[in-house]
Amino acid sequence: MKDAAPQRIHLADYRPPSHLVEDVHLTFQLDPKATRVTSRIRFKPNPDSEETGFRLHGEGLTLISAKIDGTRVDPEMVEDGLVVAAPNDAFTWEAVVEINPEDNKALEGLYLSNGMYCTQCEAQGFRRITYYPDRPDVMAPFTVRIESDLPVLLSNGNLKERGEGFTEWHDPWPKPAYLFALVAGELVDVHDTFITKSGREVQLAVWVRKGDEHKCGWALNSLKKSMKWDEDIYGREYDLDIFNIVAVDDFNMGAMENKGLNIFNASAVLCSPETSTDADFERIEAIVAHEYFHNWTGNRITCRDWFQLCLKEGLTVFRDQQFTADMRSAPVKRIEDAILLRARQFREDAGPLAHPVRPESFVEINNFYTVTVYEKGAELIGMLKRIVGDETYYKALDLYFERHDGDAATIEDWIKVFEDAADRDLSQFMLWYSQAGTPKITVTETFEEGTHTLVLEQSVPDTPGQADKKPMHIPLLFALFDPDTGQQFGEDVLLELTEPRIEIRTRGHDRKPVVSLNRDFSAPVIIDDTSRTDDRLFLLANETDSFNRWEAARSLTRDALTALATGGLGPGEEYLDALNGLLVDDSLDPAYRALILRQPSEEEIAQAIFDYGRHPEPLSVNRAADTLRARMAAHFEPDLPRLFRGMQVHGAYSPEAADAGRRAFANGLLTLLSRLDGGTAARAQFDQADNMTNRLAALGSLLQIDEGAEALARFESDWKHDRLVMNKWYAIQISLAPPEAAVGTARALTEREDFDWTNPNRFRAVMGGLVSNPAGFHDATGAGYEFLADWLIRLDEKNPQTAARTSTAFETWKRYDPKRQDLIKAQLDRILGTEGLSRDLTEMMTRIRG
Ligand code: ARG
Ligand code: ZN
Repeated sequence: MKDAAPQRIHLADYRPPSHLVEDVHLTFQLDPKATRVTSRIRFKPNPDSEETGFRLHGEGLTLISAKIDGTRVDPEMVEDGLVVAAPNDAFTWEAVVEINPEDNKALEGLYLSNGMYCTQCEAQGFRRITYYPDRPDVMAPFTVRIESDLPVLLSNGNLKERGEGFTEWHDPWPKPAYLFALVAGELVDVHDTFITKSGREVQLAVWVRKGDEHKCGWALNSLKKSMKWDEDIYGREYDLDIFNIVAVDDFNMGAMENKGLNIFNASAVLCSPETSTDADFERIEAIVAHEYFHNWTGNRITCRDWFQLCLKEGLTVFRDQQFTADMRSAPVKRIEDAILLRARQFREDAGPLAHPVRPESFVEINNFYTVTVYEKGAELIGMLKRIVGDETYYKALDLYFERHDGDAATIEDWIKVFEDAADRDLSQFMLWYSQAGTPKITVTETFEEGTHTLVLEQSVPDTPGQADKKPMHIPLLFALFDPDTGQQFGEDVLLELTEPRIEIRTRGHDRKPVVSLNRDFSAPVIIDDTSRTDDRLFLLANETDSFNRWEAARSLTRDALTALATGGLGPGEEYLDALNGLLVDDSLDPAYRALILRQPSEEEIAQAIFDYGRHPEPLSVNRAADTLRARMAAHFEPDLPRLFRGMQVHGAYSPEAADAGRRAFANGLLTLLSRLDGGTAARAQFDQADNMTNRLAALGSLLQIDEGAEALARFESDWKHDRLVMNKWYAIQISLAPPEAAVGTARALTEREDFDWTNPNRFRAVMGGLVSNPAGFHDATGAGYEFLADWLIRLDEKNPQTAARTSTAFETWKRYDPKRQDLIKAQLDRILGTEGLSRDLTEMMTRIRG
């Protein structure tokens, strides 16, 4: 059964479930090696189904006994569960199964993490707990009894009863099995209350291991801010008496929105100024919000099937982005999101793993929790909002909640509420959900006798399994500037591209106006702009849209780096002067100036070189980045020390945006300063820092000039007791190692006693660290590829999900020269040839191999 060829599931094959569930009773008798799960489930035939027969999903379960309406039955075991003859009307299914949480290193279903029981059921983990129709369109209220001597026993919903050695929970809201959760252990809680807008009191708690209590305040506070924000902005109120968050050490993803009992990767909840960076604080605030927002977008309205994953994820990411923009700085957040989207999602769209926001088939659903589904999915919501306008957007959302509360819905349902609220046909917009690939817009300008003509042509590239795509509905925010005054002509215009080509003509100009396209990054597209350097310098000086002003700087920097990496000339004086002008402009938010200063990643430069039709040489890209930093440092020298000093934050640490922005800018400056002073300022900062942001940044600056050894040793002796902090220590020394030393450093770290590779955070610290050092990972000998492949094979045996996710490091292999391609191909084939390879990694390798 295990060796059967993995089945491909198709959206087109969706059929309603044969049976619906009226209610579920579960009893857990917890034991590390032999937990007993007793289920009593009331089924009734689904009137909307033609299906006959009764099947339940199950995986790795030992069935002890099964009954239907009190009579023993003997089910037939099939590949993904069991089949049994069932009555034609409603009946009660009872089963006892045994599972082994201690041996579960896949971290799906019920498992033990450092002595604590916890669950992860999305997407299909519940079938590893008991036999059940494990699909999101089967929703039911759950009653759960947990029996154990452990002091804290939690499940979804409200606590009904607590007694000696047990608790009983009831969740009145019908939910799919993927939202089930259970936690048990020696935990302590930090708690608070929240009064909802209708006056109900909700008990909030963050549950952690003893000793971590002081790291919970920020998450708890973020939760309260999220609850208030969702009431204020979307009118959504919380619907249970309790909201629990639990921090777990071993977790495959960031966090999980189980009803009333969110389970988090410890790294996504625990923080303190001494142990966490500003970026951690911001990320935790956003993840807490994300999971909380799922209560309405995901839980109250869930997905009909897993192809609709973006229905809850795209929307919830969009909502958490809005939240962060409101809590912090909207322009800065927009730029951060665009950087992430381009670095990871455009890359996915451009490679062998490209897939639509709503995929049409999959082998392993866990392989589709991707940046395309999440981040591009969120961009689609942003475009819809821009197309229909803010007022209609919130009207459409109200209609969505009203019409679909309690439903397992589809993207069609979602688009329909927009069509109804806006009274528009959005069928062309639906292509964003079905066509993969990043649309490209080619820009041509002509200027003749006072008439300016702008021609925009759109195309969507072929992607695996998809060719000859239709033109998309693309909202582009656009402005024209007067080259003489620097002023914008008139208002912004929202162009809605629907045809393959449009022309925009304006008359009566003395000189050619300057075009600014895709302001605020209004659409996730590539603008193939042939605009000249002086237009960009103009926008750098005059653009009032903060995104496109940053974009002008970014594209100039990208050009300078690609030129340097391919033997061309470096950055011009004019550009460095313009940049310097922005850095010293105190009317600009320091967080924004930090973004202007931040270089594009080596990855991004490699992609840009490839887009120009050449194979990037990772070492040259790495040297180019170094050279540019040196030139910047030299050019900005007169202002650097003063700017750096002026950006220092005094007084008690606050993770809020204002102080965090100053630190981000100061630390960007410190990197440059270190090239001038040999690391003196960085060493001083490392010694004196009272927070992890400044300490880690100082360490990074020192590592970049190869002066980090002493600081690394100090860091280790200070923090060896803290797993989360040590993950930073692992990652930073690999990602900032000199390219030729990166693989060796990574390998040496995997030989350490505390390299617990079954812990996904620790595994990612090393593998992610290496991959984020492209010149090291792409070492010409192939040592980086071999190292990663060895570890993927090893991890796959225990944790296929994290192995598969990490394997995306290979997705860019066709970008590189033939020799590197051969080296990578050899590793892909070696992995594929491994006996017993998981379905997850097999699918990834097959797709990446192409
Ligand atoms: N729904 C979770 C979130 O976005 C992600 C959980 C995904 N888990 C998985 N095993 N694929 O917050
Ligand atoms: Zn989510």
